[in-house]
Amino acid sequence: MATIIGGLTTSHIPAVGNAIAKQLFDDPYWKPFFDAYPPIREWLGDHKPDVAINIYNDHGLGFFLDKMPTFAIGAAHEYRNEDEGWGIPQLPPFPGHPELSWHIIESMVEQEFDITSCQELAVDHGFVVPMQLFWPGAPNNPDMPRAVPVSANTVQHPIPTLKRALDFGKALRRALLSYPEDIKIVVLGTGGLSHQLDGERAGFINKEFDRMCMEKIVTDPEALTKIGRIELVEKAGAQGTEFLMWMMMRGALGEKVTPLHSNYHIPISNTGAGTMMLECAA
Ligand code: DHB
Ligand code: FE
Repeated sequence: MATIIGGLTTSHIPAVGNAIAKQLFDDPYWKPFFDAYPPIREWLGDHKPDVAINIYNDHGLGFFLDKMPTFAIGAAHEYRNEDEGWGIPQLPPFPGHPELSWHIIESMVEQEFDITSCQELAVDHGFVVPMQLFWPGAPNNPDMPRAVPVSANTVQHPIPTLKRALDFGKALRRALLSYPEDIKIVVLGTGGLSHQLDGERAGFINKEFDRMCMEKIVTDPEALTKIGRIELVEKAGAQGTEFLMWMMMRGALGEKVTPLHSNYHIPISNTGAGTMMLECAA
């Protein structure tokens, strides 16, 4: 049977993709951010997951305002990356795991989550930057697992509630654990933490709220479901709603998790950059 080894969260800021391309790892601005990743890479090297469930929010590359699925799951052999206009070099395609994808989609629909299944899906910085952070050189890192992209809408209201996101993760856990093959799975939640890119509050970051979210997501994720969607926009910024991805990831890990590592640094570009490594209880 499949096992879930743990969950990883990271912001997915496009400027990070550019910093990776320029190898700015020791640059004073970037070092406090990039220093978060070596312990995670070491853990991944020890555990060597076969599959990464990459929970991210598309920003207008795979889906646009004309058709905006609330929850979408990739079911392709590979996922191509494309130029989004951020100046990040376009990466080669990322290998998928269609058998696992269809198993997840079947199970999620059975559990009454209405999924958009995507047999073709272009993946943006929300997906590829985290893959590069965790598996340097991705997709050309031989240890990089095959990926299943899971995207939730944070672009066009109405976005899912925090409760729905956590419940999605719990259902995803049941789907993954019922996969018959002996594979090791790591679950990624990308995006956040607080940021707002436009409007009167452009540049808004809320350190206290971010810190509270990083604490509660370990100890009491249910408490976070009491935060309403408008309150989430107020407290985290218009794009800080990407914290929904972290909640989906958390739901997939089960009740108890062990926090092995975390980092928080502001600002990176316009964002409160949070990184966490959570191990599932045996
Ligand atoms: C930034 C952050 C994001 O999450 C994103 O999707 C785009 C830009 C930023 O901080 O610049
Ligand atoms: Fe984003």
